[in-house]
Amino acid sequence: MAYAAFRSIGAYVPEKILTNSDLSKMVDTSDEWITKRTGIKERHIAADTEFTSDLGVKAAQKALKRSGVALEDIDLVVTATISPDYFCMPSTATVIANKLGIKGATAFDITAACTGFIYALSIAKAFIESGMKKNVLIVGAEKLSAITDYTDRGTCILFGDGAGSAVISATNNKEEAIIDINTGADGEYADLLMTPNGGTGSAHDSLDGEAGSCFMQMKGNETFKVAVRTLTKDVKEILEDNNIKSEDIKHFIPHQANLRIIKAVGDALNMREDQVVITVEKYGNTSGASIPMAINDLYESGKLQSGEIMLLDAFGGGLTWGSALIPFVPSK
Ligand code: UT7
Repeated sequence: MAYAAFRSIGAYVPEKILTNSDLSKMVDTSDEWITKRTGIKERHIAADTEFTSDLGVKAAQKALKRSGVALEDIDLVVTATISPDYFCMPSTATVIANKLGIKGATAFDITAACTGFIYALSIAKAFIESGMKKNVLIVGAEKLSAITDYTDRGTCILFGDGAGSAVISATNNKEEAIIDINTGADGEYADLLMTPNGGTGSAHDSLDGEAGSCFMQMKGNETFKVAVRTLTKDVKEILEDNNIKSEDIKHFIPHQANLRIIKAVGDALNMREDQVVITVEKYGNTSGASIPMAINDLYESGKLQSGEIMLLDAFGGGLTWGSALIPFVPSK
């Protein structure tokens, strides 16, 4: 049987930085409020000419180079995004594949908001274990600044742009295999976090490209509470199912939405500080890109070593959630 191995990581953030102090000139907020309530100090913002696919391509180029897998051997490209280059088609995955020079591989996008990278991982794992594909490029890429309402202080302080990517390849060695991935969803909570306009399900379905038609709206406080509850439950389940104790996890890499959420979940799971990876202060919430960006930070700081187990955990619009237990097994 083929197993799926997590071979490499890469990430990219655009140059421009939007600080809390910049935001305090745009809406009624302050560095003190944002820092205290979210832990965020700054986020990166893509240039007008830089699309989600461009961010994804730069992250993917790093991941591909580090994997040693040739472009012609990539047989599936999955992009997790809620800020695609185009509303319906082509998918951002096909745009990314084309810009990278990948020809003929299956390519599609998935919509699972902040859980997108974990959903994409589960797809890669399933395709590889079924024998249908051998080398999967997954990309979490977001230009959230394009769907953020910069007059709404409840949301605009949170989001940033960026991308992260990984190469998942087939292996016969069970020791290298992704251990487990859990994903779930509950549409009953859809209204907590959504882009209510611009689709056929909305009152404004004309798709006339009016400014604001795709802006995110969030019931922040309710989302916060459901997030802490769901993230904690999800991790407890995957650890129990696999007979692993939280103290045995080397790196806990949760979705980077809010430092208070990360700390509350970490405490509920008895995680030590040195186990929890935190990048939210410099990138804000980059939705589907946040987890691979955090893994890349860990990798580039030299703290992620071959064979170490990563525990991923995410929660986002839909609602969706997911967790994953993954050994990092870079190509030799
Ligand atoms: O990515 C996955 C899903 N997303 C999340 O997980 C995000 C979840 N939610 C959050 O991170 C937090 O709820 C927020 C950071 C969005 C808000 O923090 P909060 O502690 O839940 O604040 P709140 O919404 O309960 O608002 C408290 C007060 C309100 O004023 P009053 O009614 O007490 O007078 C807000 O109007 O803070 C006010 N407020 C602000 N004040 C200054 C809300 N946003 C701001 C702001 N600056 N940016």
